[in-house]
Amino acid sequence: MTRKIDIFDTTLRDGEQSPGASMNTEEKLVIAQQLLRMHVDVIEAGFPISSPGDFRSVQEIGRLAGDDAVVVGLTRAVDKDIDRAAEALSTAKRPRIHTGLGVSPQHLREKLRISEDECVERAIHCVKYAKRYVEDVEFYAEDAGRADQKFLERVIQAAVDAGATVVNIPDTTGYQMPDDFGARIKGLADNVRGIENVTISVHTHNDLGMATALALAGVKNGATQIECTINGLGERAGNTALEEVVMAIKMHGDELDAHTGVVTQELTRASHLVSRITGMNVQANKAIVGANAFAHSSGIHQDGVLKARDTYEIINPEDVGAAGSEIILSARSGHAALKHRLAELGYTFSEDEYDDIYKRFLEIADQKKEVYDEDLESMVQERQREVSA
Ligand code: KIV
Ligand code: ZN
Repeated sequence: MTRKIDIFDTTLRDGEQSPGASMNTEEKLVIAQQLLRMHVDVIEAGFPISSPGDFRSVQEIGRLAGDDAVVVGLTRAVDKDIDRAAEALSTAKRPRIHTGLGVSPQHLREKLRISEDECVERAIHCVKYAKRYVEDVEFYAEDAGRADQKFLERVIQAAVDAGATVVNIPDTTGYQMPDDFGARIKGLADNVRGIENVTISVHTHNDLGMATALALAGVKNGATQIECTINGLGERAGNTALEEVVMAIKMHGDELDAHTGVVTQELTRASHLVSRITGMNVQANKAIVGANAFAHSSGIHQDGVLKARDTYEIINPEDVGAAGSEIILSARSGHAALKHRLAELGYTFSEDEYDDIYKRFLEIADQKKEVYDEDLESMVQERQREVSA
């Protein structure tokens, strides 16, 4: 049996930090319902001290989730944040406080203006303070991707010793390369005492388009929780996309020694829901859930897919809840695709007739991005009129 990887969804917290994507409590509850239907393991419901609305969202999602998922409230390493998160999470059956602070030179020097020793002291304090309220405490080392490795190991050791149940290693700025990030996780797994009793989590951002690759490199090197969002929503270029890591693990589970419990048939529905609620469109060529993810447009590809789907498709569309493969008719389409579509519409022709039909089709296709069924119907009817005149 491969290792179970916990899927920690942060669409409602980090995803919502995406410019223009803010959601009210009712909207968050609809998405939380869908996350539960998908069997995600952990839902980060919000940042309770940030606003009364976020406080309420954490409370309501805690109530909704019951035993079905861990519900998380984010805090800074600040007592009053932790007090507020604990209060919001009092409705949850499986509450988790997610607390921490920056650990990179940039964060220590510029943002927090503290020394390394002070950082370690604060890490210990925030974990111990959160432990007064809940058993399950996740410590995040913000900007771990740019931290000095030895110092990162020191902070994580302190958090583990203070009682953290999960240690989150974020590449906050999406700066790392996959091999380096993997080595970072391995360094922690090898050098932090007692880490084998703690969950290592990876939280990666997509500034260089590598969030998914980084998360998987983390899993390969010992992480057993991935933090991610539906559609990769999140600050700047976004977070790791949930649908991408879940499907990559499904396709490469043996190499990664990993599996998840996510109901993959719900991925498309989740993507549409989040896009509709946030008003953030999903790019057509987005992996797994984009409108073109299972669409074939060029003649060579269409011919292949019509002969055997796996020539150009590695995922069965039904496995992610998509409607199915699509053959798009355009000026790049060949005879095979046109014949196939006409047959689906109930038209068959002799080879000679097809040559004429294909010529007419190309004339239309050169004028348009896509040739629709209505175009084909009028083309066939016009030809029939001409032939019988
Ligand atoms: O990217 C990040 O470092 C975060 C932390 C607050 C976990 O979102
Ligand atoms: Zn983040």
